[in-house]
Amino acid sequence: MSTQPLPRAPGAVTTKPRETAMNTRKIYIETYGCQMNLADTELLIGLLKPHGYESTQTVQNADVILLNTCAIREHAEERVLKRLRELMYHKARHPGVRLGLTGCMAQHHRDSLLDKAPFLDLILGPDAYRTLPALLAQGDKDEPLVSVRLDRDETYADITPVRGEGIRAWVTIMRGCDKFCTFCIVPYVRGRERSVPLTALLDQVRVLADQGYKEVVYLGQTVNAYRDGEHDFADLLRQTAGIDGIERIRFTSPHPSDMSEHVIEAMATCAKVAPYLHLPLQSGSNSVLERMERGYTIEHYTALVERLRSAIPELSLSTDIIVGFPSEDEADFQATYDLMAEIRYDSAFMFKYSAREGTKAYKWEETVSEQEKGRRLQAIIALQERISGDVNQQAIGQTVDVLIEGPAKRPAGWLAGKNGQFKTVVFPGNGQQPGSVVPVRVISATAHTLIGEAFR
Ligand code: 5AD
Ligand code: SF4
Repeated sequence: MSTQPLPRAPGAVTTKPRETAMNTRKIYIETYGCQMNLADTELLIGLLKPHGYESTQTVQNADVILLNTCAIREHAEERVLKRLRELMYHKARHPGVRLGLTGCMAQHHRDSLLDKAPFLDLILGPDAYRTLPALLAQGDKDEPLVSVRLDRDETYADITPVRGEGIRAWVTIMRGCDKFCTFCIVPYVRGRERSVPLTALLDQVRVLADQGYKEVVYLGQTVNAYRDGEHDFADLLRQTAGIDGIERIRFTSPHPSDMSEHVIEAMATCAKVAPYLHLPLQSGSNSVLERMERGYTIEHYTALVERLRSAIPELSLSTDIIVGFPSEDEADFQATYDLMAEIRYDSAFMFKYSAREGTKAYKWEETVSEQEKGRRLQAIIALQERISGDVNQQAIGQTVDVLIEGPAKRPAGWLAGKNGQFKTVVFPGNGQQPGSVVPVRVISATAHTLIGEAFR
């Protein structure tokens, strides 16, 4: 029997839990996709903890193995299927092990997964996590256990996630999405929009501050659509800013249509709310935006960026772009390229369109070849690299406040953290502790990192 650990799939993230009490059953969770999934993994561990489970970092130790998955693009799903095949061999060698698939891909392929991966013991959608302890308690069954009901009311507000180490806590404030962009699978796999009550969130953040967390990142598919009765997202930001111990507040991902004046004012006036905004554009062409059913035009979007930049002068902006959407022609693509050059984002996440079964756009003919999608993607990546490099060069000579996260990957002895604009800053350490905020003078920069020297 091999004792070699199975290789982790590239890009997969294993959540490191804080120390937990002595328990007997061990769970290993590999997380794919976005921050919401990482937060859901912490939630799954939190759900299982009272039932005698603790998390482990190695497959070899695990009684239960879960892949918490993403369905946003085909590539994400292919990686999971490849990993599942590896785990199938592990399960064959360790018959007592239960292997499950959770999250968006489980929901998306609930009907076909058992054909593709008949060795799975569990299939659990994002609104069905509460059923996990009971399903595991049922013992070994020949038939796989499937729980994929979407639930308009499920917010998991009463569950305490078991969070990873560090100074940053991810807090899911709303789940699901009502926007139904024509390319996107999220509303189908995560269900309709619903928010966690404001008081539950504030209570949770007070506990996090007491536990020593310094930064809170609010999460939701359209995070600024948050609502609890009379209270909107701006109220949540303002009230969070009043909690002692929390130094920084960020959030992801807002939707441009929900970026109200109220929210902009809260960002501009609350010193703790980071001057950083991820504002997905998707395309710089109005006809593509219309077919995507994004709900805004380029004119709306650029006016919003202007308003944000005048209210928050130091604002750092990032975005999401999709190239090769059905019927995106050369002129549409050029409009995206030109708009990115005009807005000059600090950074961008750029993707080739991937048709997702079940979405509106899935039925439309793909008019852009894979090769052409690749060319368009490379062109905007090169553009963004130049812009990010130029923007970061402008920081040279400035002093920035860095919230220290821990040792830098390299060189040895250096520390790494983020400034308020969510840029990675590395500098030679001088005994400063993670969680402290130190002024650092930027002395050089790359497209992705600011390099500095600390004053103290
Ligand atoms: N193809 C490519 N990219 C997609 N995204 C969402 N759905 C798709 C898809 N079908 C991108 C969008 C979104 C980000 C999270 O993923 O840019 O903002
Ligand atoms: Fe998907 Fe659009 Fe909802 Fe974002 S807003 S999760 S892209 S449907």
